[in-house]
Parts: sequence; structure tokens; C-alpha cells
Amino acid sequence: MSLLDLSGIEKSFGSVSVLHGVDLTVGAGEVIGLVGDNGAGKSTLMKIVTGMYQADRGSITLEGDNILELTPGERRARGIEMIYQDLALAKQQDVASNIFLGREPTRRVLGMSLVDRRKMKLDAQKMIDRLGAKLPAITRPVGSFSGGQQQSVAIARALTFNPKIVIMDEPTAALAVREVQSVLDLIRQLKSQGIGVILISHRLNDVLSVTDRIIVLRQGRAAANLLTKETTMPDIVSAIVGGGDVMVAAAHEAQG
Ligand SMILES: Nc1ncnc2c1ncn2[C@@H]1O[C@H](COP(=O)(O)OP(=O)(O)OP(=O)(O)O)[C@@H](O)[C@H]1O
Ligand SMILES: [Mg+2]
Repeated sequence: MSLLDLSGIEKSFGSVSVLHGVDLTVGAGEVIGLVGDNGAGKSTLMKIVTGMYQADRGSITLEGDNILELTPGERRARGIEMIYQDLALAKQQDVASNIFLGREPTRRVLGMSLVDRRKMKLDAQKMIDRLGAKLPAITRPVGSFSGGQQQSVAIARALTFNPKIVIMDEPTAALAVREVQSVLDLIRQLKSQGIGVILISHRLNDVLSVTDRIIVLRQGRAAANLLTKETTMPDIVSAIVGGGDVMVAAAHEAQG
């Protein structure tokens, strides 16, 4: 049984049909690359997984349980985390505040409930260590960090929800080369902890280096499901642009 199982997912926005029956599975500790041209439907498909959008048709199960009727909050509680491209971090606040944003640990003092800053810092440091992420002082405002370091904070925050699946939308798009490598290392770290990862990316080299399997979305359909270790860059590119179909069409034409 897969951890996450999407089957026959369809979605339209008004009269515009975006997904036409997409299947996708993720196992525990499996890293899936989700690639495809701009507008292919990648982000939409993942927002359907988190519950931000409702599918028009199709099924979604997590560990065999139907989760279609669950709210985004309930799905998160069941272990589905998504890290959005803009990361949604509070830039003026420090690492610990960001990791616990909105659910700070508290302690009772004279009958009052106060934020337990000490516990927050200790727990934040624990998450950073669990990831093996390299950050400058965790007391600095997150806005002063590089893009890659901010990505690490967002991943550490996701970890505090004890996720089974982490979905990342373009985590390396805006990063310098060295930072890309550290984010890819964090993904490997999640995998080694048995977490399933879905990586949306246009950077095919990153996808080839870190994933186990690659799903290519083309015009709202899963055009290919490729085992990464048997896949080359030209395979992916041709699945993205529909090169295979073009060649088949050309062959038919040649036959008359
Ligand atoms: N909320 C929405 N309302 C209307 N149309 C939408 C909405 N969200 C997405 N779409 C449309 O659905 C299609 C797929 O968009 P989506 O963002 O899923 O693509 P994508 O594969 O993530 O592209 P990119 O690589 O550019 O991020 C696009 O045509 C987009 O305009
Ligand atoms: Mg997108």
C-alpha cells in the first residue's frame, strides 16, 4: 500500500479544464519529482492534495484512508505538509518564532500562560539539528538569511508537524549553486527519516539527482512515470514537450 495514492484526479476552473484524470502514488521514504511546463497543473494538483482546492472527480487516500472529505487542517494533522514557494515566513522574527509561528509552547506563571521562549529555542535548535541544517545564529531575524537558509527554516517548521509527506513547490528555483546542494541534502535527510517527498521543480538536474521517480505532467495528464535511475535528461524533456508523440506522429506520416 502506498502512503499517498491519487487516482483519476480531475479539476476545472470555470470552463478551463486543468487536470484530466491524474494518477500519482508516493511511498514512505520515496522522493517523487513532479515536473512539467508552466501551467501543466503541478501546483494545482498539489493544492488538491493539501485540501486547498477540491478535486471535481477522483480519489485521494493516505495510508489507505479516504481523505477527500477532510479539511486542510485535518489533512495537515494526518501528516501532509506543503512548503510553498514564497515560504510564508515572518521575516522580522527569529528562527524559533518562525518554527513555532502560531503555536508557541507556553508555561504557567502565577496562573498566567506565557510563551516559553527557552523551550522554544531548545526545540527549534533540535529541529535544525535533526535536519543537519547549517544556519547562522538562530536568534537573527529570518529575513537576514540567504534564500537557502530560509528554505531550511521552512523545512524545519514542516518537520515540527511530524509529517508523513512533505510537498515542496520549487524549493531551489531562486538559490545559488551551493545552496541548492544543501536543500537537496535536506530532502535526502527527510527521505532517510521515512518521509515521502514530492518535489515540484523546473530544475531537471536537481530532480534527477535527488528523486526516486519522476512524474511528468503535460496538459493536465500524467504523460510519464519514470524510474529516475533509468532516466536521462532527454527522456524527461521529451515527455514534457511531448516529443514522443511528435515522433510517433511523424512515423505515421512517413508511413503515409
Ligand atoms: N485559482 C485558479 N483559478 C483559475 N485558474 C487557475 C487557478 N489556479 C491555477 N489555474 C490555472 O490552472 C493551470 C495550471 O496552473 P498551475 O499553477 O497548476 O500550473 P503549474 O504546473 O504549477 O505551472 P508553473 O510551473 O508555472 O508553476 C493554469 O492554466 C492556471 O492558469
Ligand atoms: Mg506551479
